[in-house]
Amino acid sequence: MPFGAAGFLCRVRRLLIKNAKALVGTSPLGMNCYRGASMADLPMIEDGWLAAEDGRITGLGAMTDFPGITDWKDLTLIDATGRFVLPGWCDSHTHVVFAAPREEEFVDKIKGLSYQEIAARGGGILNSAMKLRAMDEESLYHHAKARLEEMMRLGTVAVEIKSGYGLSLESELKMLRVIRRLKETMPLPVKASLLAAHALPPEFNGNREGYLRMICDDLIPQVAREGLADFVDVFCETNYFTVAEMENVLKAGNAFGLRGKVHVNQFTSIGAVQAAIKHEALSIDHLEVLDELDIEALTASLAAAAPFTTLLPSCSFFLRIPYAPARALIERGLSVVLASDFNPGSTPSGNLNLVLSLACIQMRMLPEEAIAALTLNGAAAMDLQDELGSLTPGKRASLIITKEIPSLAYLPYAFGNDNIDTVLIDGKPIRSGAALQ
Ligand code: NIG
Ligand code: FE
Repeated sequence: MPFGAAGFLCRVRRLLIKNAKALVGTSPLGMNCYRGASMADLPMIEDGWLAAEDGRITGLGAMTDFPGITDWKDLTLIDATGRFVLPGWCDSHTHVVFAAPREEEFVDKIKGLSYQEIAARGGGILNSAMKLRAMDEESLYHHAKARLEEMMRLGTVAVEIKSGYGLSLESELKMLRVIRRLKETMPLPVKASLLAAHALPPEFNGNREGYLRMICDDLIPQVAREGLADFVDVFCETNYFTVAEMENVLKAGNAFGLRGKVHVNQFTSIGAVQAAIKHEALSIDHLEVLDELDIEALTASLAAAAPFTTLLPSCSFFLRIPYAPARALIERGLSVVLASDFNPGSTPSGNLNLVLSLACIQMRMLPEEAIAALTLNGAAAMDLQDELGSLTPGKRASLIITKEIPSLAYLPYAFGNDNIDTVLIDGKPIRSGAALQ
């Protein structure tokens, strides 16, 4: 098959998939996300067909209404007997632009040090910031590109990427320029979040206000002017940034049209959930430590602009910290999202198939709920719900075709297995398995 300029396989102009064991996530146009009980009610068409043209889904239905083929020109026909067809995974929380892995800290953790103890010894985010500052844009781009290529092979078709390892005006801008280049050159949609408030850099030791002023008065306006970010993020946590500091950053971001997607309640509950709701954050992420008041505030927010609640179970797995209470959030009617949190410190993996399994095994999400959280809800947590996240005519033909598997539940059940056969992004095979032969 021919390779395009970017090194990826060229687009299949017309695509017809027939005999799919099921088309999964066939939600109607205009449905923006799954909330609460509707997460388990993932719409599906058994024994289905799906057609796409020029990268967009053009039609789908049950094989009893198979349209038949009259025009074979430029047509790629896939017989998906025994296989499921799903919308590709949408990863709405990652830090894939970084200079180097931190496996030495991993060994320290095995020996018993905590994430916070490692940070206090100069490891953690500041360690990554030192390495990122020393690396040129070109190298950062190539490392991140390789990570994204691997993630696409694993079914990821859209990604959000945060800055936050620069921690100075010029290095945060450098990271965001790398993300912009990924946007321009990678086949999958990329969204950028400004996470300058990730840790206090050493130059500002004893001068927190100075760093916050730099973010709010200089960085946010410049980033907005240059269109370098879609969202603003803050690591609101004991020993990192306070609730009041997060509020100031969210206000400054909102004034420039950047909505919040924030790190809250990873280790402690300090009122960040309530503040993020007040400033209409699009999503609040982590939530490993939620108390009853937090859950009440989230429930009350359903009356207005409730944020997406984005859970990151592979971070809990890697750090051996509690898993977020997914069941309580779903039972309260919230919209739960799952994402990878791919970063060198707390989650050195962008594999959303593992996230799917962990969500089911450790957080007791049903397979359908976890798939809803990784598809339409993930898309919506990046404001991509009109483009991705479901098998809906008009949306991008960014799809996963599984191997031949006995049931949908087998996907999370057979954890650690590679159950994916083919991945298409905008109708282009990113990975072509037996289904495409
Ligand atoms: O989402 N919690 C804050 N930020 C990242 C970890 C960053 C790092 O350790 O490098 C997270 O887990
Ligand atoms: Fe994160």
